[in-house]
This record gives sequence, structure tokens and C-alpha cells, in this order.
Amino acid sequence: MEDRFGRKIDYLRISVTDRCNLRCLYCMPPEGVKPKPRQEILRFEEILTVVEAALELGINRFRLTGGEPLLRKGIIPFIKAMALLPGIEDIAITTNGLLLPQLGEQLKEAGVRRLNISLDTINPEKYRKITGGGDFRTVWEGITTALELGFTPVKINVVALNQINDEEWADLARLTLDRPLHIRFIELMPVGTSWQLAGKNYVSCGQVKSEIEKKLGKLTPVTHIQGSGPAEYHRLPGAQGTIGFIHAMSNHFCASCNRLRLTADGKLRPCLHDRREVDVREAVRSGATGKELQELFHKALQLKPASYRQAAVAPAAGRGMAQIGG
Ligand code: 5AD
Ligand code: SF4
Repeated sequence: MEDRFGRKIDYLRISVTDRCNLRCLYCMPPEGVKPKPRQEILRFEEILTVVEAALELGINRFRLTGGEPLLRKGIIPFIKAMALLPGIEDIAITTNGLLLPQLGEQLKEAGVRRLNISLDTINPEKYRKITGGGDFRTVWEGITTALELGFTPVKINVVALNQINDEEWADLARLTLDRPLHIRFIELMPVGTSWQLAGKNYVSCGQVKSEIEKKLGKLTPVTHIQGSGPAEYHRLPGAQGTIGFIHAMSNHFCASCNRLRLTADGKLRPCLHDRREVDVREAVRSGATGKELQELFHKALQLKPASYRQAAVAPAAGRGMAQIGG
């Protein structure tokens, strides 16, 4: 389907839970965010109904996010059921990686091929600080498991944080040398708890890239990466993996935006930066037909702004990333 500005929309990010086993400082306050009551969260059968409606509209690529998607009970049978829906092209997951040692194999069997894993540091002490108590060894084991199981690609999301992980950007980039890892630096976005960090800790990808080049030499641009989305990719000489930069703030990619989001509590969200949402939960629960659900998708597309500059922003009252799904 196309939106008002001629953008082809074929990608839906589905948040399956607002709960998380970490408290990353740019995502949640240290005490966490009170999860929504269970009855407000879409049941898996309800998500499948929404996915079927999306497929009819030509939305055929999906990413499961959270909170932490692997925390939700029944995620594996849900993915299996989703993978069987006719027309599904792709199911990917964004995870903090902590549960991959346990669930990696089942995920692979269920039909997931692509994984994004969040990792902002390879220093265990710093990892504990950034994530509010996470264990680095477990996530590293998760990443190793993902590579061993042959997920392709395995992308690592690094939020670039000035004065927090700046000394490690080159070390993180070096991880691509002898592993097929795609390390992607993401600019800190002022969403949720990041409004407070943004002033002191924001750094542009341009700066990250020049810091890396100072230490490791010039990066070579790579033209095409499977399912590449909004990142710009580079490679170190002879490296197996790539280094990506997601200019989330400095060089906005709204013109090529291809996505909608579905929140865990059943709202279609046309834009990450726009607080407007279209409720699909009530429709699904009252037995709406596929056509009626598709109309709600059209309604959401009508609300999709041309760019984040036209978005209806509500900083303080807005949802954080764990509520929207990253
Ligand atoms: N800015 C940039 N990226 C963020 N993420 C979460 N919050 C923010 C933010 N404020 C990213 C995390 C994770 C994904 C789920 O979203 O790095 O990889
Ligand atoms: Fe959890 Fe992801 Fe938010 Fe970190 S960024 S607290 S892993 S939802």
C-alpha cells in the first residue's frame, strides 16, 4: 500500500510486549515503566488477525519488538503460526539478546532468519550501568549463539552515547573484522527518558564515523545489504561484517520510510515521533472483518506525516521506546 506521499508501505513493526528484563538508560527510568494490564495487551490470536489484514494490503515484512519480545510466553508457537500465514515474506526480531542462549534454536526452527541485537558496550561493568543491571556474558553468549545457528544477518544496534560509550566505538567496529556481524550505530533519539540525555550525550553519526576512521582508517561504503532499511553501510578492509550508521536525527530518512508500527496494546502508530495512533484492539475484539481492519490501516496511513518535522509531538506525555516498540 502507498501513503499520501507515494511512499510504499510494506513493513510492520509489532511490539508484542511492553515488559523488559533490562532498564536501558535511554529507554526506561531505573524503576522501570509500569506495564499495561494484561487485558490491554493484544493476545497472540489478535495479533495474527491484524497481521492477516496487513498481508491483504501488501504489508508482508514484519519485525517483532518489545519491550523484550522473547520475554513473552508463547512467543515461539506464535512465530510458528505467523510464519505459516500465506504471503509472509519475512519475520525478524529485535532483542536485547539475553534469552538467545535459551531460545535461539527454537527461533530459528520457527522461521526467524534475521536478528537485531542491542549492545551498546563490550565492557561488562558499563553494560551493567547502561542496561540497569544486565549481564554482559549472557548477551555475548546470545550473540555467539546467533552466529553459530546461522542467523543472517545478525545486526548489532549500538546507540551512540557521547561520554558513555564513545571510547569504544572503534572497538565495537572491530568486531566486524572476523565475524559476520553488522554493527549499526544509532543516533540517540529524544523519546521517553532520552529527553534528559539528549543534550549531553547526543552525538551525530558523522562524528562517530570520523572517530572510527581516526583510529581504524578510512571506511569503504558498501552499496547493498539485505533488508537494509535506513542505514548507510561501510566495511573495514577485509572485514566479514559491516559498519552501519543510522542517522536517526541528523539526516532524516522520512522520505523513504516504509513502515507502520503496532503497539503491544493494539494501536497502529504511523510514525515513531508522532503521538497520533489508531486503535485496532477494540475492532479486533468486537470481531471486525478483514475489510474493516484494513480500513483502520488506511486511516493510520492518512495520519502518517511527510516527515518527523510535521509530526504531532508530545514529549513528556509520549510513550517511551519500550511502549512503542523501537
Ligand atoms: N534512541 C535511539 N535508539 C533507541 N533504542 C531505544 N531507545 C532509543 C533511543 N532513545 C534502540 C535500542 C534498541 C532498539 C530496540 O531501540 O538500541 O536496539
Ligand atoms: Fe529493554 Fe530494549 Fe528498552 Fe533496553 S532498549 S530497556 S533492552 S526495551
